[in-house]
Amino acid sequence: MTRVFSGIQPTGNVHLGNLLGALVHWVEDQHRSDSLYCVVDLHALTFPQDPTELRSTTLRLAQLLLAIGLDPDVCTLFVQSHVPQHTQGAWIMECTASVGELRRMTQFKDKSAKAQFVSGGLFTYPALMAADILLYDATHVPVGDDQRQHVELTRDLAERFNSRYGQTFVIPEATYPRAGARVMDLQAPTSKMSKSAESAAGTILVLDEPKAIERKIKRAVTDTETEVRYDVAAKPGVSNLLSILGAATGRTPEEAAVGYSQYGPLKTDTAEAVVELLRPIQARYTELAEDPAETRRLLAVGAGKAEEIAAATLARAKEALGLLPG
Ligand code: AMP
Ligand code: TRP
Repeated sequence: MTRVFSGIQPTGNVHLGNLLGALVHWVEDQHRSDSLYCVVDLHALTFPQDPTELRSTTLRLAQLLLAIGLDPDVCTLFVQSHVPQHTQGAWIMECTASVGELRRMTQFKDKSAKAQFVSGGLFTYPALMAADILLYDATHVPVGDDQRQHVELTRDLAERFNSRYGQTFVIPEATYPRAGARVMDLQAPTSKMSKSAESAAGTILVLDEPKAIERKIKRAVTDTETEVRYDVAAKPGVSNLLSILGAATGRTPEEAAVGYSQYGPLKTDTAEAVVELLRPIQARYTELAEDPAETRRLLAVGAGKAEEIAAATLARAKEALGLLPG
């Protein structure tokens, strides 16, 4: 049996890169495997957050995930802090990891170099992530490239725990989005579209209005040639538009290129495809946003389902460790 687990932080706005690179796969995977998806609000605390903002971003992200197509009758969707076993499991993982291992995490090195305040939690973040995954006996963890190292660490910790204390955790495997799912910044097409981009004009948000989407795509950086072809090295801007158009219409970028000889029509059609892709998501989101109580109810059901699994795994781990039963 395969079980999928993935998490997304409630910080910033969800953009087209998150959608095409990660979230559309979550929606597909839920029908193929037993899947759990988690809004990892505890991970967001590794940097100081505004409380009002965090609360609302967490709820809105859950609503967006439902709007994209996560079906709470099919998968388990929940908020990390609603399931207390995550922090308990994190402690066990912190005591399984070495300081040297945590220090080698490139995300910690990058983020701590840029931050004014480096919390202890930022350093132990991968132990919490390992607990997230191991508590559910997840076999597959769909993540982007930047999280690859954290999943590798999770495997090492699970193996170490099992060899010290006996078979307890399932060894998970990272899975990566299929090709073509890397969406680049419209203004700087050699960098990934990201919430921390320098210019908002380079990033399409899932909740952007159609007019804003059209404007951003119309102004997307291309190149001085005029030929439309998929060639990431020579034509990063045009290639990005082709991969967006392809992903939004279920084709490869090469297939999407057929029939275009000018940038103008390519941009018009890409904008239209993105607007059409997002239209039903935005409509469902608006409905869900009008009824926050219903979202909270769905999240409570999700947390209940998650806790049942997490509690059993944690009990197994505590027993293996020799913690005296209460
Ligand atoms: P982040 O916004 O960096 O926390 O990423 C959340 C998820 O979206 C991760 O699985 C990333 O790999 C994925 N993701 C983020 N940016 C992009 C992008 N520009 N293209 C494709 N996938 C992305
Ligand atoms: N660290 C991940 C990120 O920033 C989010 C995350 C937390 C996660 N726990 C997870 C992803 C468990 C996969 C599995 O994107």
